[in-house]
Amino acid sequence: MGKLFIPLQVLFMLLGTLFWTDEASAIPPSAITSGQNCLGCHATADNMPGLYKQYSKSAHYEKNVTCIDCHGAQADDPDAFQHYETFISVIVSPRDCQKCHETAVKEFEVSQHAKARELVTTGVGAYFLNNLAGSRHFGDDAKYAAGTNGCLRCHGSEILMDKNGHPTKETWPNSGIGRKNPDGSMGNCASCHETHEFSAAQARRPESCAICHNSEGGDPQIETYSASRHGTTYAAKSGQMNFHSREWVVGENYSAAPTCATCHMSATRDMPATHDIGKRINWSALLQETNSIAVQEKCGLPVGLKYEQPAPASEHRENMEKVCSACHSKMFSGHFFKQYEMEVRLIKEKWLEPGKVLFQLVTEVLQAAEKEKYAFLTHPIDYTWFGMCNTTAKAAHTGAAMMSPGWTEKGNGGFAAAWYSSYIPALKGIIEKYGDSSDKEVEKRVKALREKLNEIMNKKAYSGPWDIKETTPGK
Ligand code: HEC
Ligand code: HEC
Ligand code: HEC
Ligand code: HEC
Ligand code: HEC
Ligand code: HEC
Ligand code: HEC
Ligand code: HEC
Repeated sequence: MGKLFIPLQVLFMLLGTLFWTDEASAIPPSAITSGQNCLGCHATADNMPGLYKQYSKSAHYEKNVTCIDCHGAQADDPDAFQHYETFISVIVSPRDCQKCHETAVKEFEVSQHAKARELVTTGVGAYFLNNLAGSRHFGDDAKYAAGTNGCLRCHGSEILMDKNGHPTKETWPNSGIGRKNPDGSMGNCASCHETHEFSAAQARRPESCAICHNSEGGDPQIETYSASRHGTTYAAKSGQMNFHSREWVVGENYSAAPTCATCHMSATRDMPATHDIGKRINWSALLQETNSIAVQEKCGLPVGLKYEQPAPASEHRENMEKVCSACHSKMFSGHFFKQYEMEVRLIKEKWLEPGKVLFQLVTEVLQAAEKEKYAFLTHPIDYTWFGMCNTTAKAAHTGAAMMSPGWTEKGNGGFAAAWYSSYIPALKGIIEKYGDSSDKEVEKRVKALREKLNEIMNKKAYSGPWDIKETTPGK
C-alpha cells in the first residue's frame, strides 16, 4: 500500500502546488501578504480542511483575525520560511498574541506556568530526566525519547529550528506550558486554548487542565477534583454552566459548581480573571508558605528553580476566598481552610521534616562510602524517598486542597505505609551494611544516622501506643 500511495500523493501535491502557485502569481505581491489571501487559499485548499473549519468557528474568524496575524514572519526571523510569496512561521509564541492580548500575555509570563520548563532542566528534575533518558551513553536520538514524549510534553521543550526555518523533529510538535520559543519568549497559549478555535469556553472546563494535571504525571488534580463534591456536582450539572457566556463571573453567569478555572483563574464579582495561576495559591504543592517550588527543599533533594511570587502569600488566600464566597459563607470556607492547613502541617511536621533529615544523613553515609562513584538516583532509597515526597505527600496535600477525602487518605495512609515498610527498613539496612566499616569518615556518618534514627523513632508520634481520644475530637 505504502509504495503505491506515496507516488500518488507526491503527484497530487505537485499538482496542487503548481495550481496554487499559478493563482498566487496572478495577484500583485503586496496582496499576497494580506490575510484575505491566506484565507482565500486555505478555505478552498484540499489540505487541512479540518483545520480551516476549526478556525472558522473562532472569535478570530468573526473579527477578521486571519492566519497571517499569527503566522506572519519577517524574512530574518529564526523560524521564518517562505510559503508561496510570503514569509511565515509555523511556530506561534505568546509574543505573537501579545499585540492584541497584552494583559493575558503579561500575566502568563510572570506565572509559574511560564517557568515550567526550568523545573525539568534544573535540580532534581534534571537528575530525574537524565536518569530516565539513559543519558548520552544511549544510542542516537533515543536519548531524547523520555523527555520528548514525556516530561517536556507537559513542561515544554526548547524549540530548535533547522536551517530552513522549520522546527526540528525532537522539539516540535510540543505544547508544553513552559516551552522556550525561538523568539526567546516562554510558554504556549495553545496549551489550554486548542488551535484553531482558541476558545475561552473550552479552557473553562476542567478537562483542559487534565492533560497535565493528572496522577500519571504525579500531580493528581483532575482525580482529586473529580472525586470531590465540586467535581461530582460538575459532572451532574455541566450542562448548566453557561461556558459560552462572554463574561463568566461566578455567582452571576453560573452557580452550579466551580471548575479548575473558577477557583484558579476566572472572574468573581470583585476580582478580574487572571492568567497568573499563582495569584490565588498560598501553599504550593510543594508545601512551603511562599509560592516557591519547594519539594526539593522540603525533601532535601537537589534544588533547581526557586520561584517567588511578588505578592505576599496572605493576599493569595484572600483572593481564593473571594471565589468561595460566591457560593459559601465566610465561616464555611474559613473553617475549610483551617482543616486544610492541619493537613499541610501534618505532612510537613510529622513526615517530611524528619524524613528529610534522615535522607540527608543517609546520603552522607553513601557519599562517604562510595566516594567519587556516588550518584544521586542510583540507590533504592533515593527512589523510595523521592516517591514519598513527590507522589505520596503530594496526593495528601492535593487531596486536602481540592476536598477529596479519598486522595487525602491515600496520601496519608501511603506515606505511613512507605515509612514503616520501606523507608525505615532501608535506612536500617544501610546502617547494617556500613556499620562495621573501617573507614573513619564512614563510621562517623553511620553513627550520626543511627543516633538520629533512634531519636526520631522513639518519639511517641512514631512508636505509639496511641489513644483515639487524642486524635479525634468528641470521642
Ligand atoms: C496558494 C495557496 C496558499 C496560500 C496563498 C497560503 N497557503 Fe498556507 N498552505 C497551503 C497548502 C496547500 C499548505 C499545505 C502544506 C504545503 O504544501 O506547504 C499550506 C500550509 C500552511 C502552513 C503549515 C506549513 C507547514 O509546513 O507545516 C501554514 C502555517 C500556512 N499554510 C499558513 C499560511 C499563511 C499565514 C498564509 C498567508 C500568508 C498562507 N498559508 C497562504 C496553501 C496556501
Ligand atoms: C490566533 C492565532 C492563529 C490564527 C489566526 C491561525 N493560527 Fe495556525 N497556529 C496557531 C498556533 C498558536 C499554533 C501552534 C503552533 C506552535 O506549536 O507554535 C498554530 C499551528 C498551525 C499549524 C501547525 C499545526 C498543525 O496542526 O498542523 C498550521 C498548519 C496552521 N497553524 C495553519 C493555520 C492556517 C492555515 C490559518 C488560517 C486559516 C491559521 N493557522 C490561523 C495560531 C493561529
Ligand atoms: C502529565 C504531565 C507531566 C509530566 C509527563 C511530567 N510532569 Fe512534572 N509536573 C507536572 C505538573 C502539572 C506539575 C505541577 C504540580 C503541582 O504544582 O502540584 C509538575 C511539577 C514538577 C516538578 C516540581 C515539583 C516537584 O514535584 O518537585 C518537577 C521537578 C517536575 N515536575 C519534573 C518532571 C520531570 C523530570 C518529568 C519527567 C521525568 C516530569 N516532571 C513529567 C506535570 C507533568
Ligand atoms: C492554563 C490554561 C491557559 C493558558 C495557558 C492560557 N489561557 Fe487564556 N484563558 C484560560 C481560561 C480558563 C480562560 C477563561 C477565563 C474566564 O473565565 O473568563 C481564558 C481566557 C482567555 C481570553 C479571553 C478573555 C480575556 O482575557 O480577554 C484570552 C484573550 C486569552 N485567554 C488569551 C490567552 C493568551 C494570549 C494566552 C497565552 C499567553 C493564554 N490565553 C494562555 C486559560 C488559559
Ligand atoms: C490581530 C489581533 C489578534 C491576535 C494576533 C490574536 N488575537 Fe485572540 N482575539 C482577537 C480578537 C479581536 C478577539 C475577539 C475579542 C472580542 O470578541 O472581544 C480575540 C479573542 C480571543 C479569545 C477569546 C475567544 C472566546 O472564546 O471568546 C482567545 C482565547 C484568544 N483570542 C486567544 C488568542 C491567542 C492564544 C492568540 C495567539 C496565538 C491570539 N488570540 C492572537 C484578536 C487577536
Ligand atoms: C500543558 C500542561 C499544563 C496545562 C494544560 C495546565 N497546567 Fe497548570 N501547571 C503545569 C506545570 C508543569 C506546572 C508546574 C509549573 C511550575 O510550578 O513552574 C503547573 C502549575 C500550576 C499551578 C501552580 C501550582 C503550585 O503548586 O503553585 C496551578 C494553580 C495550575 N498549574 C493550574 C492550572 C489550571 C487551572 C489549568 C487549566 C485551566 C492548568 N494549570 C493547565 C502544567 C499545565
Ligand atoms: C473549589 C475551588 C477549587 C477547584 C474547583 C480546584 N482547585 Fe486547585 N486548589 C484550590 C485550593 C483552595 C488550593 C490550595 C491553595 C493554597 O494552598 O492556598 C488549590 C491548589 C491547587 C494546586 C497546587 C497545590 C497542589 O495541590 O498541587 C494546583 C496545581 C491546583 N490546585 C490545580 C487545580 C486543577 C488542575 C483543578 C481542576 C482539575 C483544580 N485545581 C480545581 C481550589 C480549587
Ligand atoms: C459555584 C459555586 C461554588 C464555589 C465557587 C465553591 N463551591 Fe464549594 N461547594 C459547592 C457545591 C455545589 C457543593 C456541594 C453541595 C454542598 O455540600 O453544598 C460544595 C461543597 C463544598 C464543601 C463540602 C465538601 C464536603 O465533602 O462536605 C466544601 C468544604 C467546599 N465546598 C469548599 C469550598 C471552597 C473552600 C471554595 C473556594 C475555594 C468553594 N467551595 C467554592 C459550590 C461551590
